[in-house]
Amino acid sequence: MKILMLCREPRLYSCQRLKSEAEKRGHSMDILDPNRCLLKLSSNRPHFDVYYQCNGKENCYLLPKYDAVLPRFGTASTQMGCVVLRHFVAGGAISLNDDQAFLRARDKWQSLQLLQQAGVLVPQSILAGSEFSAKSAVAKMKTPTILKTLNGSQGIGVMLAEKPQSAVSILETLKEAKVVTLLQDFIREAKNTDIRCFVIGDKVVATMLRHGQNGEFRANFHRGGSAEKITLTIDEQQIAINAAKALGLDVAGVDLIRSNQGLLVLEVNASAGLEMIEKTSGVNIALEMIVCLEQKYQLLNNK
Ligand SMILES: Nc1ncnc2c1ncn2[C@@H]1O[C@H](COP(=O)(O)OP(=O)(O)O)[C@@H](O)[C@H]1O
Ligand SMILES: [Mg+2]
Repeated sequence: MKILMLCREPRLYSCQRLKSEAEKRGHSMDILDPNRCLLKLSSNRPHFDVYYQCNGKENCYLLPKYDAVLPRFGTASTQMGCVVLRHFVAGGAISLNDDQAFLRARDKWQSLQLLQQAGVLVPQSILAGSEFSAKSAVAKMKTPTILKTLNGSQGIGVMLAEKPQSAVSILETLKEAKVVTLLQDFIREAKNTDIRCFVIGDKVVATMLRHGQNGEFRANFHRGGSAEKITLTIDEQQIAINAAKALGLDVAGVDLIRSNQGLLVLEVNASAGLEMIEKTSGVNIALEMIVCLEQKYQLLNNK
């Protein structure tokens, strides 16, 4: 297959691993930044052209047709990334995670709604409209309270307010800055840990238990979290699989948290990092992703 990875940082561990496993299986892979693309819709064939510019000074060139696309762009490029992804898919490529599923996962509130609708349990969460007072919203929650911006990632945008007054002041500030923020019960009993589950298709391929460092409640790798191996029961794995399905994702990094009410889903990532989980679990996740892409491609071409 001729594979395109949409990503802004080709040097990232995940990009390099995916490229290396793809090439080992005889595929070629280009890694391109969706923000450097120019999309063209035309009544003549081909209907979906994409031009690429390496930098502002050089002339652009027409990109070839790709068989498959791997979307791996970050939250800062969600909109353009999804638009570019849709263009390639419209032109005949397959993708691991389509643009609609990607967009669902990139909105934390929409994700929680869809998870709850699919019967996947999430921490009690609320979202108040702009005319609803911060004080009344906070009064509906227990303390401490978690506050989350809807499009954050890597732990950025997730805040912990120990007292109701702190939650009110943070919420008021974010409202003023026009940053939509949800409130969520703080799962204290998880003791600054969460569980990352890597789901591919209808299988959990790898898991790890993450710990926040030095009292940090966020267990994210990018916030200095550490990880250890963990084995989940079949029922627990099914929760992660159901979460990925609820958002329509082929590949997902599901964040779970152990609460007194059982295992809850915090969020579902459409482009989860491979480094920490491959190194902790010893699983070749990059290879599993390429195999999944091959299967999807074969399924489409045998039709
Ligand atoms: N309700 C919560 N209770 C306790 N810890 C939480 C809660 N929500 C998030 N966390 C911690 O913060 C981290 C980041 O939250 P998450 O919702 O996964 O956002 P991000 O997209 O930034 O990773 C989680 O991995 C977890 O360690
Ligand atoms: Mg997370």
